Amino acid sequence: NEIKLFCPATIANVSCGFDVLGLCLESTGDEMIIRKTSQKGVRISKITGQELPLEAQKNVAGVAVLAMLNEIESDFGFEIEIIKKIKPGSGIGSSAASAAGAVYGVNLLLDKPFTKNQLVAFAMQGEELASGAPHADNVAPALLGGFTLVKGYEPLEVLKLNTPKELFATVIHPQIEVKTADARSVIKQNIPLKKAIKQWGNLAGLVSALYTEDYDLISRCLHDEIVEPMRSPLIPGFHKVKEAAKEAGALGSGISGSGPSIFALSKGGETAKKAAKAMAEVYKDFGVDYDIHVSKI
Ligand code: HSE
Repeated sequence: NEIKLFCPATIANVSCGFDVLGLCLESTGDEMIIRKTSQKGVRISKITGQELPLEAQKNVAGVAVLAMLNEIESDFGFEIEIIKKIKPGSGIGSSAASAAGAVYGVNLLLDKPFTKNQLVAFAMQGEELASGAPHADNVAPALLGGFTLVKGYEPLEVLKLNTPKELFATVIHPQIEVKTADARSVIKQNIPLKKAIKQWGNLAGLVSALYTEDYDLISRCLHDEIVEPMRSPLIPGFHKVKEAAKEAGALGSGISGSGPSIFALSKGGETAKKAAKAMAEVYKDFGVDYDIHVSKI
């Protein structure tokens, strides 16, 4: 009646797939302990590592589990303890890790009445609370692992994609906070057809490359014609960090989720570490404090 979980960090968008594509980091994330209790409802008993609301209705994990419990008859409840390691507003799915972890864990304690797609829908309610937008491109990879695609939102349909075996991610987080809601408010609602054509070519190309494990093709597809130009002014040294990653041999790079973290994808862990070093050098030169992670996908 108690479980301890790893709640992975995720990279949403992956350059060409705004709000639809995401990937899961195997070794970066939070921890969570969930206990079944005789008291009904959801109680967030403790959060360590960050100052976040304990009141269930104001907490992303609480809201996601409450949505889930609304769907079943229960005379029991759950107590959740969150050990936060992912900083909120860092762009690697902090809220998604909590929302996805909570629904995944509660589903296990309930003997798995819900499908993964249903869990994604519940976790999205946590995302809505966090950013005002119920996007699934962080919660889906957190729940399914590897790369995922949100094929559609209405109705919700989430697909797990293939993950090339040698693919690693580097993520650098300049120590500023960018709220997803703010990063979404800078995006224009209309896009020129020419840009859309480039973007969906790149997205389809990237999905194909994930299956054929064609690293050169992955590299040619990691571009964002639409959102990155609007958001990159929010991120210090963005273009320099991208150049440094490329020179170190990374396949490509971009804004992680809504930023300010910048991700790079590399073939092999050694190249991912070289990219990390080069990206970190840029921030050292600029005097920007940062965190950096290298993780298998
Ligand atoms: N797709 C979302 C966005 C992800 O870019 O706003 C937020 O983490």
